[in-house]
Amino acid sequence: MIKIKPEEIKILSSYIYNLSGISIDASKAYLLETRFGKLLEEEGCKSYSEFYHKAKSNSGGKLEKKIIDAITTNETLFFRDTNPFDLLKFKILPDLMDARSAKGTRAGNTQLKIWSSACSTGQEIYSVAIVLKELFGPSGGPKVSLVGTDLSDAAVAQASAGTYNKFEIERGLPREKLQRYFTMAGNNWKIKDEIRAMASFRRMNLMQPFMGLGKFDIIFCRNVAIYFTLPDRKKLFNKIADVLEPDGYLIIGSTESLTGVCPRFVPKRHLRSVYYQLS
Ligand SMILES: C[S@@+](CC[C@H](N)C(=O)[O-])C[C@H]1O[C@@H](n2cnc3c(N)ncnc32)[C@H](O)[C@@H]1O
Repeated sequence: MIKIKPEEIKILSSYIYNLSGISIDASKAYLLETRFGKLLEEEGCKSYSEFYHKAKSNSGGKLEKKIIDAITTNETLFFRDTNPFDLLKFKILPDLMDARSAKGTRAGNTQLKIWSSACSTGQEIYSVAIVLKELFGPSGGPKVSLVGTDLSDAAVAQASAGTYNKFEIERGLPREKLQRYFTMAGNNWKIKDEIRAMASFRRMNLMQPFMGLGKFDIIFCRNVAIYFTLPDRKKLFNKIADVLEPDGYLIIGSTESLTGVCPRFVPKRHLRSVYYQLS
């Protein structure tokens, strides 16, 4: 395996930071070698400098996309951490529906916009879709728009296809939900059209300005800000505050906190879950 030199760690880390906001310090050089070793060989590069210059010379090109796919950690699973999905079912959705009906909006005319802002391969937004389906049934519920965005093209493509292998499907998905909402496609499982049709996906970099998103009632931003520096986390959650409805809900990862990150958000607790609302 080709070894990365100290000066190459610097240029490659800063290149990755500029592409994604992902911050890699020098102690994590091994990460660069493990993530890029194979790609380096595939590209026929003899050093990390050559690899960097090849990618840099074609901004937005194939190699740049492969680098993003390789450096992002797409780890996710259906109903990850369970609590946020119970929170959604038993607190957030009933409260939002009550609030809207108090304003005189009937259930069928209510529009709910939900964003999974680092959706990875789609398990988070499809878990949300399943909760909605089970809570509201085939009719009578609100009109929902579920949006999944992620920086990685490969992750967005898989989310969009809604296809999962045996390993992915066995992580977090109860058997009865698998049978009800998926069909077999060769050796894989594919989400049924009724759930797939509830969501749309696109590539989006959270480090860049949010354009044309509109406002959301519920935002999931889980297990992505951990890769960013504190100043970048501050900027990110400020932008998220700008696109959240005044009575909207933000859900972050179970190991994350917004203390010292964004004073515009107030943490609130319901049973075992923490969620955030605008102050
Ligand atoms: C660990 S996954 C979390 C997936 C899901 N939210 C969950 O909690 O299960 C982190 C995701 O963040 C995405 N990501 C990393 N940097 C990003 C950026 N700057 N903009 C958008 N997505 C990013 C990665 O591609 C990856 O899919």
